[in-house]
Amino acid sequence: MKKRIAILGASGSIGTSALWVVEKFSDRLELVGVSVHRNLHCAQEIVRRFPSCEWVVVTGLEGKEAIRDGVRFLYGRQWVGTLIRETGVDTVVFGLPSGEVVDLFLDLVESGVKIAMANKEALVVTCDLIRPAVAKNVLPIDSEQSALWQLLEGKLDRVKRVILTCSGGPFRGKKREELRDVDASSALSHPRWNMGPKVSLDSATLMNKALEVIEAVALFDLDPTQIEVLVHPQAEVHGIVEMVDGALFLQAGITDMRLPIQYALSWPERWDNDALSFPIHERIVWDFHPVDHETFTSLKTGRLALEKGGSTLVVFNTANDLLGRMFLEGDVSFLDIMDITHRLVEEHEPWQITSLEDIERARRWAEERLSTLLG
Ligand SMILES: NC(=O)c1ccc[n+]([C@@H]2O[C@H](COP(=O)([O-])OP(=O)(O)OC[C@H]3O[C@@H](n4cnc5c(N)ncnc54)[C@H](OP(=O)(O)O)[C@@H]3O)[C@@H](O)[C@H]2O)c1
Repeated sequence: MKKRIAILGASGSIGTSALWVVEKFSDRLELVGVSVHRNLHCAQEIVRRFPSCEWVVVTGLEGKEAIRDGVRFLYGRQWVGTLIRETGVDTVVFGLPSGEVVDLFLDLVESGVKIAMANKEALVVTCDLIRPAVAKNVLPIDSEQSALWQLLEGKLDRVKRVILTCSGGPFRGKKREELRDVDASSALSHPRWNMGPKVSLDSATLMNKALEVIEAVALFDLDPTQIEVLVHPQAEVHGIVEMVDGALFLQAGITDMRLPIQYALSWPERWDNDALSFPIHERIVWDFHPVDHETFTSLKTGRLALEKGGSTLVVFNTANDLLGRMFLEGDVSFLDIMDITHRLVEEHEPWQITSLEDIERARRWAEERLSTLLG
């Protein structure tokens, strides 16, 4: 029987890769529904390309429910849960950006469906809330977490530490002074990955890696001291695990999100795919360097947020999210993203996260503090 798949954020970068995988394995996977935020044109293309797709939820536009050529078009984010429940989906690809979609994520967790999860922000802000449920139903597709998932299966109790790799982004090797006046277009031009704007900017500040350290804690219940980060400019080794006896296991693959997405959708099987094979017979050079923590302070800030815990994780994520947007609109500088996020994390007095309301309260705290600081 085919696995029934829904893709949330089907018009985005992760969504496009996931559609490729579903099409490639159409004998084993069946697309039953998608969401887009505003890109109706893309949604119409998708239903033409995938006749099995009978549901489209348009989360960011208002409109009347309509059935066109047998496809239900629904407007508003409240329909995402309905789509998942009524279509009997096996796995949902969660390709929505930012921490603002955390309610949708929690709804999916509650439904018990398998979640092929790209969105690290939702895992970061719910880190304290849903760890046991996460372990059961979340199949990571962030390439680094997918690497750890593949490397750690069955080995967790004999692991000394894990290493997340980091390409270093477009500003690798630059010093703080050189980053003072950088603009959005240079911050968004990632040297190795072609991704959406939020994650590209987070890669330039290394906030992406800070979020991933927290994500790894949430997913694998690792102690933060067991997680290290190394700069690896080629971005071909996605994760490394060191065992207690000193043996190292590496997971490598081409720099292409279709590979971890395929693994999550095929798991617990592995499916043949020559299109994604690594050119191992070519000369390979892999470098690994320590992170320049003086210039890129994001990892320190993320670790401080982990240490303080609870609502500080939400504050960390929200501050980065909002300042990132302001930077793209020209309202703050690149360094402000790291500096002001650090300031908020330091100032915040945390409370426990036990509900969505606690998350909302922490988000409001960060918004209000930012608005006071920035006027
Ligand atoms: N891209 C990558 O290679 C990559 C790698 C690792 C992790 N991730 C993570 O995956 C997530 C998605 O990234 P992406 O690069 O695919 O983003 P993207 O290209 O910007 O696509 C985002 C998708 O979500 C929809 N969307 C945007 N805002 C929304 C909102 N407020 N509510 C509901 N839907 C919304 C968009 O619809 P419209 O097109 O209609 O606006 C689009 O379909 C992020 O959390 C990112 O950190 C991405």
